[in-house]
Amino acid sequence: VEFQVSLVGRRRLADEIYRQLRTAILDGRLTEGALLPPSRELARRLSVSRSTVTVAYDRLIGEGFAIGKVGSGTRAAPSLARVTARRRPQRASLRPRRMWDAVSLPADTRRPADYDFRPGVPDASLFPYQSWRRLMNRAFRPAPSGDGMYGHPGGHAALREAIARHVGIARGVRADPQDVIITAGTQQAVDLVARALVAPGDRVAVEDPGYGPPRRLLRTLGLRVSGVPVDREGLIVDAIPPETRLVYVSPSHQFPLGLTMSLRRRIELAGWADRTGGAIIEDDYDSEFRFGDRPIEPVQILDAAGRVIFVGSFSKTMLPALRLGYVITPRSISHAVEAAKYLADWHTPTGTQAAMAWFLSSGSFARHLRRMRTVYESRHRLIADTLRNDFDEHLEVVPSSVGLHLAAHSVDGSVDRIDAVHRRALAAGVDFHPLARYAAGDVARAGIVLGYGGIPLDRIDEGLRRLRAAFDR
Ligand SMILES: Cc1ncc(COP(=O)(O)O)c(C=O)c1O
Repeated sequence: VEFQVSLVGRRRLADEIYRQLRTAILDGRLTEGALLPPSRELARRLSVSRSTVTVAYDRLIGEGFAIGKVGSGTRAAPSLARVTARRRPQRASLRPRRMWDAVSLPADTRRPADYDFRPGVPDASLFPYQSWRRLMNRAFRPAPSGDGMYGHPGGHAALREAIARHVGIARGVRADPQDVIITAGTQQAVDLVARALVAPGDRVAVEDPGYGPPRRLLRTLGLRVSGVPVDREGLIVDAIPPETRLVYVSPSHQFPLGLTMSLRRRIELAGWADRTGGAIIEDDYDSEFRFGDRPIEPVQILDAAGRVIFVGSFSKTMLPALRLGYVITPRSISHAVEAAKYLADWHTPTGTQAAMAWFLSSGSFARHLRRMRTVYESRHRLIADTLRNDFDEHLEVVPSSVGLHLAAHSVDGSVDRIDAVHRRALAAGVDFHPLARYAAGDVARAGIVLGYGGIPLDRIDEGLRRLRAAFDR
């Protein structure tokens, strides 16, 4: 990349070139060993004489900021110059809005514990990389996925059609392809829908405990966010505060408790929206990994009034790294959501969308799901059985037969004790999430959340043995 030197309106040109390069070396934009532009080329680019540039380079070399060797150009010097040079202190002149102080970045997931029970990750080692690579290759030949130009904000037509078919078959959701909008995962779906429907100062509601990122996102949009408690049937509809305009829920597999919202509550929730004029974002999280019993109808089907926005993600069925999800909107808001997508990032990368469309329509997705369902079911069963048999004096398992994680309440109810167990478990190479982390309000429940996307079946026994030891100490 060409290093940018600007001489607009400057007088002492050699000084200016020296000063800009020196600053770049000191602040690390030109790292140790980086090649400075050849003097002849820089002189031409800046329309100055070559000797002007040479004077600047000689001074950088003389002061130890750069090293010049005949034939191999001038390079930024090793770090000694950087350490000894006095750095100008950075003035904190810009101050972001305060709300950003409360949002921490996600933990680095690249170095997992030996026994990794963190929720929210699929088993990436079983992803069909070879088929996916083939499809991505195909997408980048000019004809199949377009001409390399901007695409439609709503998404690649073939993917919108494939998703409409998929949710029709798998979830009974009637969707017209034009109401399917492709997003960068659930997170962007919530962002776009909220932008389309509510205004700063409006009240919105989320589950408590619940999935954190949408809750934080809604706060940064200036919304008043209330946590609504969840019992064994799911979100308690009667506890939704008055004047709530939008509710975000995960009925298929409540995060983090892992339970499925009862049919009665789903009907109540659809009724709430109809009665109050509110909207529901139905995050169909983990519905694909259901072991055994019949799936319950999405709220979207139970709603006759067109007030449910159905959201799905390929983060767990495929890979989180793809950043691929979708939203199925009532016709009345599809234009606004598409327009919000256009202004956010124009559209999701076309190559990824085209590959996903083929993956769905060729049957590869269904095959991959079948395989992963079997894998996850055996992990789920082993963990649930072991918790029930060996942890019964410490934990009460929340009944669940779906998804990539399960939760258990602590029998003695002590959040501090679970934190201490977590610390001891980490020291023994076992990671999980304390349930208290997912509280939306002031009251945190004590318990644990165990994911099994990141731990192979044959490591579960030993991982749980170590966890048990962390409880016993
Ligand atoms: C409830 C819930 N919804 C959705 C997701 C996926 O989010 P995204 O599609 O933005 O990756 C997660 C990930 O853990 C989740 O827990």
